[in-house]
Amino acid sequence: MKDILQELETRRDQARLGGGEKRVDGQHAKGKLTARERLELLLDPGSFEEFDMFVAHRCTDFGMQESRPYGDGVVTGWGTINGRMVYVFSQDFTVMGGSVSETHGQKICKIMDMAMQNGAPVIGLNDSGGARIQEGVASLAAYGEVFQRNIEASGVIPQISVIMGPCAGGAVYSPAMTDFIFMVKDSSYMFVTGPDVVKTVTNEVVTAEELGGAKTHTSKSSVADAAFENDMEALMEVRRLIDMLPLNNRERPPHRPFFDDPDRVETALDTIVPENPNQPYDMKEVVRSVADEGDFNEMQADFAKNIITGFIRLEGQTVGVVANQPMVLAGVLDIDSARKAARFVRFCDCFEIPILTFVDVPGFLPGTKQEYDGIIKHGAKLLFAYGEATVPKVTVITRKAYGGAYVVMSSKHLRGDFNYAWPTSEVAVMGAKGATEILYRSELGDPDKIARRTKDYEDRFANPFVAAERGFIDEVIQPRSTRKRVCRAFASLRTKTRGMPWKKHDNIPL
Ligand code: HXC
Repeated sequence: MKDILQELETRRDQARLGGGEKRVDGQHAKGKLTARERLELLLDPGSFEEFDMFVAHRCTDFGMQESRPYGDGVVTGWGTINGRMVYVFSQDFTVMGGSVSETHGQKICKIMDMAMQNGAPVIGLNDSGGARIQEGVASLAAYGEVFQRNIEASGVIPQISVIMGPCAGGAVYSPAMTDFIFMVKDSSYMFVTGPDVVKTVTNEVVTAEELGGAKTHTSKSSVADAAFENDMEALMEVRRLIDMLPLNNRERPPHRPFFDDPDRVETALDTIVPENPNQPYDMKEVVRSVADEGDFNEMQADFAKNIITGFIRLEGQTVGVVANQPMVLAGVLDIDSARKAARFVRFCDCFEIPILTFVDVPGFLPGTKQEYDGIIKHGAKLLFAYGEATVPKVTVITRKAYGGAYVVMSSKHLRGDFNYAWPTSEVAVMGAKGATEILYRSELGDPDKIARRTKDYEDRFANPFVAAERGFIDEVIQPRSTRKRVCRAFASLRTKTRGMPWKKHDNIPL
């Protein structure tokens, strides 16, 4: 009996060794942790329960039967993050480069199926050379099965991908369909075709890092949502994010203890908007001063910086924030910012996370580049996302809310629940100067007359009261009391129910 028990331990030890000491050293030498070390950091201590530790591949081609390592290059199972259940897979680069075989894929599918059945997020730690070359189409089929599950799980359970090594070819499409992608700087990359193929086909010479490193994907392509210095930091940030999300689409986000007075008055906000309407200010200061303990978990911080997206807590409850950023391109809406914010709004709506929107937007960015690249269709994404979102929506206009962009930014007309404006707001078709130049074109030669006309327009429209007269603004509020007003608004919306007409699904302008 003792021998049998001992044999189990021996086999377990063998499985835990992965690809062996030498390859583990190689992994460490690259500044990367092993699959198991990563799970230890990600999950609460002692909470990991492994599945399929003894699974081995069944391939007999290319002499593969000679080596059938336990686990087959991926560690799978479940554990907890701050006591809440998550399912995980962690690819083991030390075993055949973490490549995906039929059985490796089946292990991932098993935990995805369990996650769906039990309503818990899936976190994938990706570090893989892609399809197991020796297995051919069986490996492609394995990917296909994972993809289909990614799609079915979308909007049901949160899915988070961390790219911690190579991720190339069709393999990128599993993370691409998950809700958030985090990358590790210098040790991870993602591309559909690598530098060699790129050189052959387009003659471009580019390094793997330039083509698909963390900086590229967080600042240029927007494929990834955040980049971190090392494995440890990335995993800690996954814990922080998971802590703000519900486990599935039928649950509410966790309610955490908070130590910040909901009635806290922030007098600094009374003067944050400069007198000169062309002068910027940092909208992140507004976001932080409203959030519980000033904590703001920003997503896509390095892409389309003219709009800000991320999570805060209000009275311990997770809230998604979208805010124009006057510091960058005057907070204008363009293709990138509309796409970024639209995807964020839809994520929040999937998972019942209320949305707080801060508005200071001079309109849409003009230009042939924007028009040729489809600002009409891409701008419509944000409009559509706000209009279809049925979660509680609270909007605060801090300054400009001009033209179509006013309507897009969670206006009353798109079923905003609470639409507040600061006294510094200007809700109008456009800025006073532009309006006067169109309305009084014949007087353009007379600067005094134009200045008078501009002043008249400003007096009439450069304020929130015209919109408030019509009920498009529910209340003009003191900037200093924004936190209190917004907390009370969301508190009153906790029982909100609102549906959309029955449909198979909508046809958002993709
Ligand atoms: C089988 C693989 C493998 C793979 C790596 N290995 N990738 N085995 N299938 N796809 C093995 C190597 O043979 C090696 O085994 C070990 O993993 C470590 O690999 P190295 O090359 O020594 O590591 P490194 O120098 O760090 O380079 C990593 C790498 C490189 C850049 C990922 O291994 C590589 O280019 N691999 C092939 C990548 C690829 O073309 N994959 C298919 C992509 S297409 P030993 O025994 O020597 O330690 C794809 C399609 C998916 O994935 C489609 C989905 C629909």
